[in-house]
Amino acid sequence: MKNLRKAVFPVAGWGTRFLPATKASPKEMIPLVDKPVIQYAVEEAASSGIETMIFVTGRGKRAIEDHFDSSPELELFLKEKGKDLELEEIKKISSLARCIFVRQREALGLGHAVLCAREAVGDESFAVLLGDDVVDAQVPVLAQMMEVWNRYQKPVIGLMEVPQHLIPRYGIAAGEEREPGVFKITQMVEKPAVEEAPSNLAIVGRYILTPDIFEKIEESGRGALGEIQLTDALVAAMKDQGVYGIVFKGRYLDCGTKIGWIKSQIYAALKHPEMAEEIREYLKEMVDSWR
Ligand code: UTP
Repeated sequence: MKNLRKAVFPVAGWGTRFLPATKASPKEMIPLVDKPVIQYAVEEAASSGIETMIFVTGRGKRAIEDHFDSSPELELFLKEKGKDLELEEIKKISSLARCIFVRQREALGLGHAVLCAREAVGDESFAVLLGDDVVDAQVPVLAQMMEVWNRYQKPVIGLMEVPQHLIPRYGIAAGEEREPGVFKITQMVEKPAVEEAPSNLAIVGRYILTPDIFEKIEESGRGALGEIQLTDALVAAMKDQGVYGIVFKGRYLDCGTKIGWIKSQIYAALKHPEMAEEIREYLKEMVDSWR
């Protein structure tokens, strides 16, 4: 088995769907119960064997760097107060992996953000994880994808079935099913109208890419919404060498929109061992009071 060593986390977007919360705070730092959403993606990568995390940041994103850095003053404070559990939790974050931060000067789109990581990635295959897409899965989604990547040695994208009305929000892919849940991709369209969508399989924020993607991004120029889209470069990769997609096993939590985040919050709280019972009671009380 060949190992992937590096993962790219594009976190330089404006997060306009979450304004005003994202006016001065990164959307990726919005918490899901007690952890910022980006930490879930970083933990997923670390538990899939990734050693180096490359963050593509932009203006106003310092909080992300601070979050993954060590914090000696806070650690000392917690130690003095005897808050051992909190201390352990805090130390774990900075020891997750080696972090590199590169800058995207202008938010020109996801494809462009990935291109900004070119030097840090070098000439090897790598993963891309979008921080606001959290997946609750028994086997980390990236590990599920690595298994396909190891078998086919081609780029792999994470796929999820979506209801019709959500199709225009996503990149949509279609292909030939080679084994249960694994597709050789034949079509990809960024944010299509429902009538033009080739399937209901949405590309969610997990990718394994080969280094030739950088050239393809450079060649692709601006696409949907005037942005440099990763999907356009993936279409070129599909024609060139082939791209595979896997319908991953797990529960997708959309933490990049207000409604998605509220639902994710309820889901995560109901799964949290210390909160589940009280939240269940509270929800029941709320529902009963509306009757
Ligand atoms: P999104 O489209 O979800 O993020 O991109 P956004 O643009 O910040 O959000 P909205 O649409 O305005 O609400 C997915 C990920 O890609 C990053 C974002 O930070 C997000 O984590 N991204 C997007 C970049 O790093 N650079 C970009 O130019 C665009």
